[in-house]
Amino acid sequence: MLGKLLDFKQEGNRVSFRFEKGEGSLTPLKETVFRVFSGDSTIPSKAVEKTEHEAGKALCTEVCREEGGVRVSTRCMSALVGDDFSVDFYWADGSPVCREYRGERTLSKGLGEEERELMAGEGHFLAEEKKRHKIEVLKAIEGDECFYGLGDKTGFLNKRHYAYDMWNTDNPDPQVDSFRALYKSIPFFMARTDRGDYGIFFDTTYKSVFDMGKESRDYYYFAADEGNLDYYFIGGDTLPEILTEYTALTGRAPLPQLWTLGYHQSRWSYKTEEEVQYIGNMLRKLRVPCDSIHLDIDYMERYKVFTWDKERFPDPKRLLSHLGEEGFKIVTIIDPGVKVEEGYPLYEEGMKKGYFVTAPSGETYVNAVWPGDSVFPDFGNPQVRAWWARQQKLLTSAGVRGVWNDMNEPATFRGEIPGDIVFSDEGQKADHTRMHNAYGHLMAKATYEGLKEADGRRPFVITRACYAGTQKYSTAWTGDNHSIWAHLQMAVPQLCNLSLSGMPFVGTDIAGFGSDATPELLLRWVETGCFSPLFRNHCCLSAVRQEPWAFGKDVLDIYRSYVELRYTLIPYYYDLFREEEQTGRPILRPLVFHYEKDPETWETNDQFLIGDRLLAAPVLQQGVRRRVVYLPEGTWYDFWKGEAIEGKRAILQEAPLDTCPLYVKAGSILPRWPVQQYVGEKEIRELILDIYPGEGSCLHYRDDGESFGYREGAYAEYRFEVESSGRFTAELLHAGYTPYESLLLRCRGKEIRLSLSGEGKAEAKLW
Ligand code: GLC
Repeated sequence: MLGKLLDFKQEGNRVSFRFEKGEGSLTPLKETVFRVFSGDSTIPSKAVEKTEHEAGKALCTEVCREEGGVRVSTRCMSALVGDDFSVDFYWADGSPVCREYRGERTLSKGLGEEERELMAGEGHFLAEEKKRHKIEVLKAIEGDECFYGLGDKTGFLNKRHYAYDMWNTDNPDPQVDSFRALYKSIPFFMARTDRGDYGIFFDTTYKSVFDMGKESRDYYYFAADEGNLDYYFIGGDTLPEILTEYTALTGRAPLPQLWTLGYHQSRWSYKTEEEVQYIGNMLRKLRVPCDSIHLDIDYMERYKVFTWDKERFPDPKRLLSHLGEEGFKIVTIIDPGVKVEEGYPLYEEGMKKGYFVTAPSGETYVNAVWPGDSVFPDFGNPQVRAWWARQQKLLTSAGVRGVWNDMNEPATFRGEIPGDIVFSDEGQKADHTRMHNAYGHLMAKATYEGLKEADGRRPFVITRACYAGTQKYSTAWTGDNHSIWAHLQMAVPQLCNLSLSGMPFVGTDIAGFGSDATPELLLRWVETGCFSPLFRNHCCLSAVRQEPWAFGKDVLDIYRSYVELRYTLIPYYYDLFREEEQTGRPILRPLVFHYEKDPETWETNDQFLIGDRLLAAPVLQQGVRRRVVYLPEGTWYDFWKGEAIEGKRAILQEAPLDTCPLYVKAGSILPRWPVQQYVGEKEIRELILDIYPGEGSCLHYRDDGESFGYREGAYAEYRFEVESSGRFTAELLHAGYTPYESLLLRCRGKEIRLSLSGEGKAEAKLW
């Protein structure tokens, strides 16, 4: 690519290199984090806004020439930069962790024209021919690497031997393992290796390719045809350490409003005021706890964003206030496409101000989405974002509490937007090729900022399209899955990989979006989905009804019990979100996240951890009533029966239709609340602590559950500890919010009620 390395220069932490055919730089941002860059430094990063990494600190301990290149060392690692801007990374003791692959790519000739035509005749999907890219980084596969992350790709947890494209794509066909792209582009992965772990974040919004050892067993590569060579290398001993650094770079999901952790009921569509009220009444009558009902596109007037259909929703404010009294928060969908229609104020204003993307000729670009002919806001322009942000007021003034951003890949019905359509990039002129993958990200950012301004509380945004860093603004769901067992199975690795890509607040459409759910699928899906941070049942226009009561009383009773379980665990989820905001550790974690020394966990696709204390092993196949569960090292307790089970082995677990196998790690303290029909229904003065014998400790966090006051100290934080002797201690560490009046300790059938002393301490003997 860049040819021979000629010379180098060090300025502070940045070391720049001159090659025969260009220049590049390598900058340590921390002892274990390096940025490798070559290209146009004026292109703004969409992911890295501000980082915790301080530029002030001198990090390079040595920069010197040696055989093979220039070595840049920090206290913990070194990078050896050579010809063609190859970069090898080593630990401080000189052992390699990730080296460039120095051979050529194996580009086979592929099929001839005639053969391609023959296959295309039967409608076979033909992958693109292998080709060289302008930017191509090949790294060696040197052992038993497993690759995790890469956003919401289909297939399994370990991405080794698969190849993907980063190009936000709305493809409604049932998603299968061979899909190369879905709605989100998060060009970040982590590698677990016996030489130590590392992560690579290729910060480009241009279409990129990640071939994780599909083309060759000897190397993997990431590549793009445009944009910069701009990647961050993060070394570490464990996956959690790497994720902490990645999220220090791209940001963390802020603590959400508490109610957003409750249950959400949705369907395309609850079409009228009466229908929405009916859904609310049913949920309350049948006592299925629920915090939110979502309104899909039909609440709008002919799919015009930021309007209400006056016939079907004559008085949204009244409806939402009435539902609000019953504890329901309403979330409305907003798509980016603005209907072309004279007299529609949003369209007219946007046209007047030049806020929509244009053809190179300057003419506004038109494609079709739900409303027919539509134009597309230029979200890369900060003024357009501010304008879009202001529109949220139409919703918040009616009482809307969250905004769901859809179709923001952007999806278009008359073919993809051509690459040369003109977009802005923070004051620079750019095109669709550059801005496509950032479009949903920037829309979510505008929505977040608008809600924050209009409502003041922590914004609740859901988005379908994402880029790296979208977690700062929005939660996400995995888009249009189907009501098929394969998609319930896929949900586990997909949500785990999103979590490992820095997106912690995620969920799937429970029971599936397209196709028709069956009673058994609905149950197994809620038994799995009740653990996902975003807990929403949603389906499409043509699907059979899949509300909790749709299949009769027996199904309803089981469904309800899992929604209730989730409500009792909300304080645990909230603690996990607090931890996530501080460390980047996600809520859902694949087993490998905490047990990576154990090869049994590297490819676990059908079990997951919630934080570090709970392990769920849902049934993901029709007709199955028992399954094999792998429990990692240590002692585990069966959540339902309480019996202790020694780990580091597989067990055979009975799992009748009403049971999701669930286990708690010995020494866990699980904070719980009583069941409520919605968050805030009851005033909670007592915290329940379920304690599982062993040794352990945890922090517990509480605040008003909605404002940003916690950032000024308006929260209470406790530390709880249990020792192997059975001694339990509690301490109030921070008293910026009303503390609980009492703690109810529950352990092996015994209950002890405790109150904290004046110094905020308490202790008890549990066994
Ligand atoms: C898209 C969304 C889906 C929504 C539908 C109608 O398909 O992914 O969730 O219901 O559009 O708005």
